[in-house]
Amino acid sequence: MSTTRTGFSSRLGFVAAAAGSAVGLGNIWKFPYETADNGGGAFFLIYLLCIFLIGFPVMVGEISLGRHTRSNPYGAYLKTGNKNWALVGILGVACGFMILSFYNVIAGWAFGYFLKISFGDLLNEGDFGAFFGSYVGQIGELFFFSLAFMAITAFVVMRGVQKGIESAAKILMPVLLVILLGLIIYALTLPGSWEGVEYYLKPDFSKLNLDVINSAMGHAFFSLSLGMGALITYGSYIGKQDNITSSAAIVTVADTGVAFLAGMLLLPLMFAMDLEAAQGPSLIFVVLPKAFAQMGPIVGKVVGGSFFLLVCVAALTSTISLLEVPVSYFVDERKWSRGKSVSIVAAVIFLIGIPSMMSQGFSPALSGGEEGIINYGGKTQDFLTLVADAFSEVSLPLGGLLMSLFVAFRWKTANLSDEISKGNPTYKGSTLEKFINIAISYVCPIILGFIFISNLLEKFFGFSFIH
Ligand code: TRP
Repeated sequence: MSTTRTGFSSRLGFVAAAAGSAVGLGNIWKFPYETADNGGGAFFLIYLLCIFLIGFPVMVGEISLGRHTRSNPYGAYLKTGNKNWALVGILGVACGFMILSFYNVIAGWAFGYFLKISFGDLLNEGDFGAFFGSYVGQIGELFFFSLAFMAITAFVVMRGVQKGIESAAKILMPVLLVILLGLIIYALTLPGSWEGVEYYLKPDFSKLNLDVINSAMGHAFFSLSLGMGALITYGSYIGKQDNITSSAAIVTVADTGVAFLAGMLLLPLMFAMDLEAAQGPSLIFVVLPKAFAQMGPIVGKVVGGSFFLLVCVAALTSTISLLEVPVSYFVDERKWSRGKSVSIVAAVIFLIGIPSMMSQGFSPALSGGEEGIINYGGKTQDFLTLVADAFSEVSLPLGGLLMSLFVAFRWKTANLSDEISKGNPTYKGSTLEKFINIAISYVCPIILGFIFISNLLEKFFGFSFIH
């Protein structure tokens, strides 16, 4: 079977798309908060170590497997392994469905904030906490915002790899960088902002413990979009002459750089405006709007609107990659046309996301708390958290663990080296080759196995052996 598979037009196209996949909501609200809270520069060092030891080798493994097989994750494991290994690919496709279902809901919240700040009067709200609570607790508007976000994602993916995914990334990634740098320059001119930089980066090694290290590892993995075959899929669209190791290095540095820069924006803003840090969504949806409101009506609208545009742009290049994984499965394996695959897959994922949309107060049964019916790990939880725990906290490390074992012991590192050396003639015999082989055979499986087991026990059995 040799159907012509269209691919990225150039290495730059691939790098932009893969960096777009990596740079997402995780970089903007999770990384800055985690760093500031868990030891600043000390956490950042650990994070860099995780990126280097597990992120980079797994990324090289995924891209190589994708390029070698020219397939979606299922087909990739099937061609180089067997039907049982192909289940790992199915897990990846399932993660694409489930992670996108809730990720798109959160992207929809951000899209709504962008519209309401730029074109409405959200910044006149007195109490942003109460506003956010009622905003996520209804579903009329949210339904529309998430639907719009999914439609934009589907539109891009429908146009194909080169005209859709690649072109979008080549426009959106520079836009993202310009907005981010512009906002940072503005934030750093505000009085008191440098105390935020100090708070963000001042190393405090006493805060490091196994728990913190575990979350640094898990976050590094999620942030690089690893573990479900998103990069197997993107890797299947690159040319044989491309240098996989240097592309992976650029993507890794870009992702880490943007995460770092997001902190250089958020912490200075919060310190300049005298605001308390908060965890998770409320950091950007409750705390930051206070900062924008204090800037006065016009500056607030421009700065706040730009910030939420930045969040939407970052989220969009990630939703595109999440959608492409299941779409490529139906195109390759079921021989559906791209148009049919995108329409059906996007519609189904949107529907799967509706309970997540309702789980932040609209439906008490799905929202956790006293009336919640979802109960695991010793407490009631909301539906969105359930999906995130099952598919991103637990399934991604599992997928990464199995991927490393597969590449090292079934596909074999010799084949990995063959594939990499096609675009990198000096690879064989290099120190880099030794490093990647050792990392993917031993370091990654051990660490990913540890993250998988500790997250599974902690999230679902309320048992933590690392405290
Ligand atoms: N990396 C993205 C973020 O940081 C999320 C993401 C996009 C992702 N595609 C993925 C995570 C594939 C895992 C797998 O927000």
